[in-house]
Amino acid sequence: MRVTINQIKEMKQKGEIISMLTAYDYVTAKIVDEAGIPLILVGDSLGMVVLGYESTIPVTIEEMLHHTKAVVRGTKKAMIIGDMPFMTYHVSIEDALRNAARFIQEAGTQAVKLEGGVTVAENVRRIVDCGIPVMGHIGLTPQSIHQFGGHKIQGRTPEVASRLLEDARALEEAGAFAVVMETVPAPLAALITKKINIPTIGIGAGIGCDGQVQVINDILGSYTDFVPKHAKQYARLVDIMSSAIAEYHSEVQSGKFPTEAQSFSMDESVLAGLD
Ligand code: KIV
Repeated sequence: MRVTINQIKEMKQKGEIISMLTAYDYVTAKIVDEAGIPLILVGDSLGMVVLGYESTIPVTIEEMLHHTKAVVRGTKKAMIIGDMPFMTYHVSIEDALRNAARFIQEAGTQAVKLEGGVTVAENVRRIVDCGIPVMGHIGLTPQSIHQFGGHKIQGRTPEVASRLLEDARALEEAGAFAVVMETVPAPLAALITKKINIPTIGIGAGIGCDGQVQVINDILGSYTDFVPKHAKQYARLVDIMSSAIAEYHSEVQSGKFPTEAQSFSMDESVLAGLD
């Protein structure tokens, strides 16, 4: 049985800190699941850290579904959350419902995530009413990067701080089971966390949230084009990969690889019979 939204909500009530990570492929998802992480997000960060786009905006729903299916196949316990890409939940409620349903029905996720607060609350309510759990996402929402004018901290002015609180409340009222807060000053994130009853999951939002999420490539050091300030590198996979690949390349060129250990023998008589 996979983690449920009730268990996640109970974690807030019990004061248990919620851990969440992204994953985009079968192998990585399996490792994250086996580590006991209860929430796995197939984020649209896929576009940057896996597909090499400059932002998350070009990511399509087909690309998301393709990777989400692999993550679902690699996991048994975690709740898998599919990230709805840019413009798949804004145009109309019908569109939002149809696209949210694709994550559940085609890819096999247990929930979807979408960006925005008050402005998407009505769509969140309709999706939830159809039986699809929704995680909200407020603060520095990367799909609105052009509107923000870059990766800017959100909530340092009284207007934006109070808008973020309103957004969080609107999502709770609409039935979201949790809300991601991205790049929000720690004291504001802590205050919002106290004022709403659903769990807040922070990324660059300090220690006062109910949980934390990170892009897995950032914490593993496997995507180095841009390392956000909020990410801690627990490894430098890029270095391990570079040195292994360089060693392979050099051993192939020098004839050191493959050895007998990586080769297959056969009965010499078969060869003798060949012209
Ligand atoms: O796309 C993503 O990975 C996300 C997380 C950063 C929360 O939305």
